[in-house]
Order: sequence, then structure tokens, then C-alpha cells
Amino acid sequence: MKNETKFAHIGAPKAGLGTAVNPSISRASTLLFDRAEDLYRSDIRGYGRHGAQVHDALAEAFTDLEGGAGTVLFPSGLAACTYAILSQVKSGDHVLLTDSCYGPTRKFCDTYLKKMNIETEFYDPRIGSGIKEFIRDNTSLIILESPGSLSFEIQDIPAICKVAKSNNVVTIIDNTWSAGLSLNPLKLGVDISCHAATKYFGGHSDVMYGAAISRTKSLHNAIKQTAKYIGNASSPDDAYQILRGFRTLVTRFRQQEATSLVLADWLSSHDRVLQVLHPAHSDHPDHALWQRDFTGGGCIFSVVFKPCSEKKVLGFVNALKIFGIGYSYGGFESLCIHCDPQLKRNHATSLGGPLIRFACGLENAEDLKSDIEQAFKTVF
Ligand SMILES: Cc1ncc(COP(=O)(O)O)c(C=O)c1O
Repeated sequence: MKNETKFAHIGAPKAGLGTAVNPSISRASTLLFDRAEDLYRSDIRGYGRHGAQVHDALAEAFTDLEGGAGTVLFPSGLAACTYAILSQVKSGDHVLLTDSCYGPTRKFCDTYLKKMNIETEFYDPRIGSGIKEFIRDNTSLIILESPGSLSFEIQDIPAICKVAKSNNVVTIIDNTWSAGLSLNPLKLGVDISCHAATKYFGGHSDVMYGAAISRTKSLHNAIKQTAKYIGNASSPDDAYQILRGFRTLVTRFRQQEATSLVLADWLSSHDRVLQVLHPAHSDHPDHALWQRDFTGGGCIFSVVFKPCSEKKVLGFVNALKIFGIGYSYGGFESLCIHCDPQLKRNHATSLGGPLIRFACGLENAEDLKSDIEQAFKTVF
């Protein structure tokens, strides 16, 4: 069965007389039991922090999406990444983190893990099987993100996972860009796939959420236990919104993916543009790798402008009328940011000009093109 069919129904209650099509939201901290002995049963939920029916339905949808063994849900995408990392490390370990990862994940590893006496080493996202040179006796984890945040490098996931497996190292990927629709990392050998469900799954820029899906039950149990010990919990209202987002995910994603390619194609021959960084575009340096491992694109990409002053770049972003100025992507509305101030890299070579990121929403692609063109004309 295709995803759009499956997700229209996944987690829905059994039809009956007047049954709602989605699970109901049960708001609870306290759960009540008939008998005192039932408080200590391990086969039933005992307390609100452990979730409700709507969380179960949502976890099932994520597990199905990625073909995993289980899903742990989190109140944000960053929490999904950090808890998954914490579940796999201990004091004295060495962690390999792609240099192109999402900024706050980088910050977490560089500060919080450091405080726990865990060393993070940043590797070139394009390292492939060369990662073996970086493995040490105490390496416990390799963290991937493909494409990379802001700069969109595609990683050789199977090559990295092969090295990880032969050295008993766990792999985690931030799979937010593909929504699990255009990349299936668990099939390529990754152990844990994390999502900022805030993006495509929420789809309306009004809810934060995260999910970590594991390839095996034991990895899943490790994350579940870490989440339990640290007190992870997420609102049933938010879980409901994300499950609702699943219903329309495929259609929204395909539309936004198509719009991003129209814009990337057009911008690639624009006289103000040095390079378009969209892995699904044929000019992208890792396009062949993307073709091998991905089945589609995403809604977000970056553009390197021909060298110009920061004033002109900020003027361009400020002149946009349809694109909003703000972080995130995957919502119904298009967004644009100037990336350079947050581009932190240990292995970067110069891009040759200022970096601008576009996130395509559900607006008409021609209207978005006109918006970009009028912003160029206003500033240059
Ligand atoms: C690639 C990636 N991972 C994780 C996150 C964090 O997600 P959240 O904002 O839900 O914490 C983001 C948010 O921008 C992201 O872009």
C-alpha cells in the first residue's frame, strides 16, 4: 500500500456508530485504577507522562513510515536528536558528528556532551568510507544529517554505516529534510532516524514535535528508557496535531518538493546567482549520490549569490513580500533566511558568496518566482 493511502487511515479508531475518524485526545496526568495492585503492573500505562492512545497511534505511524522497530515521541525535534544521542553515550566516549549538522545539535554536543566528558569530533560530511580513519576504541556514535543543514551536502550513508557496523558503532541520522518520504535511512543501514516533526508533519508552523525511530527493539528500548528517566513527555494535543498532519503529509510534501525544484531550476540560471544548493538539481555536486539513495527531494534549498555586500543581501530578504523572514520549513508558507551568520563549520571551503535559504510553502510557484525577481530588482 502506498504511503498516502496508509497515512490517511493509520492509527484511526475502529469504525462504529458515530466513531470519530481520529483518536480522541485524552488529557491526563493521573490515570485511575480499580485495584491497588494495578498501580504496579508493567503491562499497562500508569501515569500521564507515559502518553495516551493518541501517542500510540502517532508512534505507530512514524514506525511504519520508517520501517523501524519502534518510535519514541518528543516535544521538539531537537529533543528527539539530543535524547537519541544521550541514549547511546557515556562518560569517556568519542562521538563523530557531521560538520553540516543542525546548529543546536552541534551546540548540544559541543557543550553538554563535553560537560559529561564526551568528546565530539566534527567530520567532513562528504567523508564517506574515509570515516574509518576517525574511529577510535572509545567511539560510540556517528551522527549524520543528509542533506546537511543550510549547505545541503549529501552523505554516503551506506559507506559510513558499513564502517560503523564493522566497528560496533551506532549511527543516528537527522532525517527531517526528507520527512521519511524521499529517504529511508534504516534501509541504508542507519540505526536511529530522528525527525523534527515540527516541519512537514505539523505542516502549519504552529506546533513543535519530534520523533526518534529505531531499527531494532534494543535501540528503541534504550531511547525509551533514557526518555523515561529524564522525564520526557509531550502534550496529547500536539500529538493529535502531528497525527492529523500525517493525513495530508504526502500531498503537501510532493507539492512543496515540486515548487522547490521549479525555483531551483530557475535560480540556477539567474544572473545574480553563483550556485544553487539543491540535491535534486542536476548541478548539485552530490546529485549522483542523491539519485542513488533518495527517491525525491524536499521543500528547502539554499542559493549562493554572486559576491555582494551584506547590506544588499539583507535588503533582498527584506524586500520579499510573499516569503516570510523566519526559521523552519515544511509549513504552508514560504520562508527565507540569510544563512551566513549561523554557518558554523570546521571543514568548510568558501562558498564564493552569501548564502540564502528558501523554504517553499504551498503558494503558487510562479508567484514565488515573481516575488524573488521583484526583490532582486529592488536591491540590485
Ligand atoms: C534539520 C533539523 N533538525 C532538527 C530541528 C529541530 O527541530 P525543532 O525546532 O522541532 O526542535 C530543526 C529545526 O529547524 C532542523 O531543521
